[in-house]
Amino acid sequence: MSALVAIAQIAANFLILGPLAVAAVIELLPGRRRPKIVPKKILITGATSGIGEALATRYASPSITLALTGRNARALQTVADKCRAKGAQVLTTTLDVVDEDGMRSWIVSVDEQVGGLDLVVANAGVSEVTFGFDPQDASVAEESARKLFAPNVNGVLNTIYPALPAMRLRRHGQIAIVSSMASFLPRAGPYSASKAAVRYLAISLRAGLHADGISVCSIVPGYVKSPMTENVKSTPMMVEMDDAIEAIVKGLEDDVSVIAFPWTMYVLAWTFNIIPPTIFDIFARNGLLPSRMSYVTNKAENQK
Ligand SMILES: NC(=O)c1ccc[n+]([C@@H]2O[C@H](COP(=O)([O-])OP(=O)(O)OC[C@H]3O[C@@H](n4cnc5c(N)ncnc54)[C@H](OP(=O)(O)O)[C@@H]3O)[C@@H](O)[C@H]2O)c1
Repeated sequence: MSALVAIAQIAANFLILGPLAVAAVIELLPGRRRPKIVPKKILITGATSGIGEALATRYASPSITLALTGRNARALQTVADKCRAKGAQVLTTTLDVVDEDGMRSWIVSVDEQVGGLDLVVANAGVSEVTFGFDPQDASVAEESARKLFAPNVNGVLNTIYPALPAMRLRRHGQIAIVSSMASFLPRAGPYSASKAAVRYLAISLRAGLHADGISVCSIVPGYVKSPMTENVKSTPMMVEMDDAIEAIVKGLEDDVSVIAFPWTMYVLAWTFNIIPPTIFDIFARNGLLPSRMSYVTNKAENQK
């Protein structure tokens, strides 16, 4: 009986939500012909590594001011030096995104110092791999949920909200929130949940702040070659860092609401997302749920 209910649910979901998946793809297409947004004063969190570092060096040029942060002071200095060598003005502060007061006073003072930020990228984040958690344990363990939610959710709040009052006054500014394709996977545990939270936040803020002249974009990467994915054994449709950065820069210029790549994975993610939880229940009860992902965890190397 429960199998019949599940099949009926799937059919209904596909009929109702299938067109939405198509809409998701359409959403990614460059449709609107508006002047490109070209940011000059850019703040990036998590700029010491991976996507944040690559984005900072991509934007770095003589007309650009960058405000960069991360916890690793030496790595931050190295990235700042690379950006200065390309002619950018660079401000750096070593900060934990979880430090609400520290983030607020830094962002407010940077905004004043540069004469108004054009773009704030809430990029800093961690995954189970960062901490060397076993993914099976991580999906249910309290420790992993708290360790992931603090920077991935509170860190994003600490980055975007202090920037908003000044942007609202100027009626100008762009916020980019880095989510993940994992935000569509209901069985991907706390990481998935943290990334879903910020993706939905971006969607609602975009609608809410439109009238204030502020644009909010969510960035939804699949697997990108970075230190975060180094120890992940299975990385289907892996995207090279340069391609990821070009997709992000172009998406922000075009002010698309969702910058998702690769698009094939986005379609699959949407489709996966409409599978009703009942199906997972049936699989779980029968021991058919595959392990969430296959990691090669190396605690010694990854533990921070
Ligand atoms: N790589 C992928 O496949 C992928 C896919 C989807 C989404 N993402 C998301 O993309 C973002 C960047 O990931 P990545 O691949 O570039 O990973 P990464 O190379 O591990 O970089 C993570 C960055 O976040 C910073 N960070 C972590 N915790 C922090 C904290 N508490 N306070 C301040 N900074 C902190 C790190 O800096 P410090 O260590 O110096 O603090 C580092 O600069 C993350 O939000 C991640 O979830 C990545």
